[in-house]
Amino acid sequence: MSEPIRVVVTGAAGQIAYSLLYIIANGEVFGKDQKLVLTLLDIPPMMGVLEGVVMELHDCAFPLLTEVIPTADPAVAFKDVSAAFLVGAMPRREGMERKDLLSANVKIFKVQGEALNNHAKKDVKVLVVGNPANTNALICSHFAPSIPKENFTAMTRLDQNRARAQIAQRLGTDISNVKNLIIWGNHSATQYPDAANGTANGKPVTDLVEASYLQSDFVTTVQKRGAAVIAARKMSSAMSAAKAAADHIRDWWHGTESGRFVSMGVVSDGSYGIPKDIVFSFPVEIKNKQWKIVQGLKLDSFARSKLDITTKELLEEKEEAMAVCNGN
Ligand code: NAD
Ligand code: LMR
Repeated sequence: MSEPIRVVVTGAAGQIAYSLLYIIANGEVFGKDQKLVLTLLDIPPMMGVLEGVVMELHDCAFPLLTEVIPTADPAVAFKDVSAAFLVGAMPRREGMERKDLLSANVKIFKVQGEALNNHAKKDVKVLVVGNPANTNALICSHFAPSIPKENFTAMTRLDQNRARAQIAQRLGTDISNVKNLIIWGNHSATQYPDAANGTANGKPVTDLVEASYLQSDFVTTVQKRGAAVIAARKMSSAMSAAKAAADHIRDWWHGTESGRFVSMGVVSDGSYGIPKDIVFSFPVEIKNKQWKIVQGLKLDSFARSKLDITTKELLEEKEEAMAVCNGN
């Protein structure tokens, strides 16, 4: 059994955290032999609710959970953390786009970037879930200059899981047989879910599913799935978001198996002609806790046009976020 690591979950009194904390504390992210100290950050008015969450974590009697620290102080929450799940932010309501949350939420990620910079381990792995996730991750990294940019990521794993589920259902096959679907770009309605490199039972998805579906309903269903969940539940996705956050950090921590790639929002290095310094979802492979963008995949003119649209949106979000953070 290894020494405990410190892991922070923000928005810990909220609905995603309620599902996520169970998965983490049960050893399903960092492994069944990794002891954990969980620090739970929320805002002062939520401390009462958070106390109830702490009681439940204790009552779960998780063998790996050595300590739980609820707090409203980022300096306490981020102290020496090895992994950070940044969930805490306002969710959208019906009729909103995720970028409508930008002005309210981006300031949270400025403060938390500064707190990570001052208190976290320098090799901390950061996952931003709070929306608009890509741009929040960019801002967080910007305000944490002492931590490598590669350590800041945004969640598009939920979109990837949604894409896999759509293809598995269409083909009537087990989801574990569906691999290498890619989410390009922003976690928003401009993202491009791409099946061109996907396989199902080892065969190309493009040989099994009509192109007319892959270029239309498949794309829009995944792009708009978050809104569909909100319309039905009157609240945004929580169980599936928690599962995706756990999948994202588990793969980052333990690596991806050979020949399988996963989608993560990462700071662009210019791959595939995407401008540097926006957080863009790419296919990545992970080894020794380092992700690498999968290179050399073919993009046809349809795919390229979709990437252009989502890139444009991310550049606009970046400009707006910087203006908010600079008080303009
Ligand atoms: P929620 O309202 O249930 O919980 C959010 C929690 O964050 C609340 O307890 C709130 O008090 C807390 N919070 C607010 N400001 C904070 C701050 N400065 N520091 C710490 N905590 C703070 O919302 P939720 O359903 O858990 O969703 C959280 C976020 O995740 C939303 O922005 C939502 O849109 C986003 N989300 C992203 C994805 C994705 O795929 N990237 C998926 C689902 C939801
Ligand atoms: C999702 O994709 O479910 C989340 O980003 C929540 C939302 O606002 O759609």
